[in-house]
Amino acid sequence: MRVDVLTIFPDYLAALDLSLVGKARRTGILDLRVHDLRDWATDRHRTVDDTPFGGGAGMVMKPDVWGRALDDVLGTPGDPAGDPAGGTDGAADGAADGAAGVRAGAAHLVVPTPSGEVFTQRHAEALAREEHVVVACGRYEGIDARVAERARAAGHRVSELSIGDYVLNGGEVAALVMIEAFGRLLPGVVGNPHSLVEESHGAAGLLEYPVYTKPPSWEGHDVPEVLLSGHHARIERWRRDQALVRTAARRPDMVASLDVADLDRADLTV
Ligand code: ADE
Repeated sequence: MRVDVLTIFPDYLAALDLSLVGKARRTGILDLRVHDLRDWATDRHRTVDDTPFGGGAGMVMKPDVWGRALDDVLGTPGDPAGDPAGGTDGAADGAADGAAGVRAGAAHLVVPTPSGEVFTQRHAEALAREEHVVVACGRYEGIDARVAERARAAGHRVSELSIGDYVLNGGEVAALVMIEAFGRLLPGVVGNPHSLVEESHGAAGLLEYPVYTKPPSWEGHDVPEVLLSGHHARIERWRRDQALVRTAARRPDMVASLDVADLDRADLTV
């Protein structure tokens, strides 16, 4: 999978050299390229922002700078991106996929913004299936709205996504969050794929149950007896009960959206 990140602070993305995502880059599972947006500015000061039409506080990122950057990095649907740094192309050519004007093979543009749809595990799963994702990190009051509009009109999928109901200084930290969330779902990134199956926000629609390791007793706190029993059916039942209780206490919104058909008789007694 190829991922391009456009930012005025490339150093923010240095953390993507670490841990499992860093290993995925080194082994070639993830072709991640970070670009300095100012390389597409044309004036001596490498300006990327200007005052907002309609007035108000702060600055807005200029559409022309973003337009040039995205023309180079995003590519044209059906004719994937070249690389301004001279690297190899990512996505393969593709035919129309049936969605209005969107073609397979076109890069998916992700714009982190506090005014976006809330990013969830479902978005991570969908992005992990893409061949090419471009993340456009805004700063200041955001990016001129015509940038996303133009990318959509050109046939790209565009997702404006928020990582939560709070405001960061820019999209870089949100980009780190999203890239880690979808990067770890790429085949071969997490050593044991079973560890992806039972986690919070997985298929069960529940938070994960509490976990314990050795020693069985630590500073007066004991591991629940059932986990030491070796009785697999009882352990499974206990874990499911704990997941239900925890989800009800911490995330009643998730309980409300559980499908009743997925509950078993024992769940209803928890
Ligand atoms: N940029 C600033 N705040 C953000 C948020 N909460 N999510 C995504 N991008 C952002």
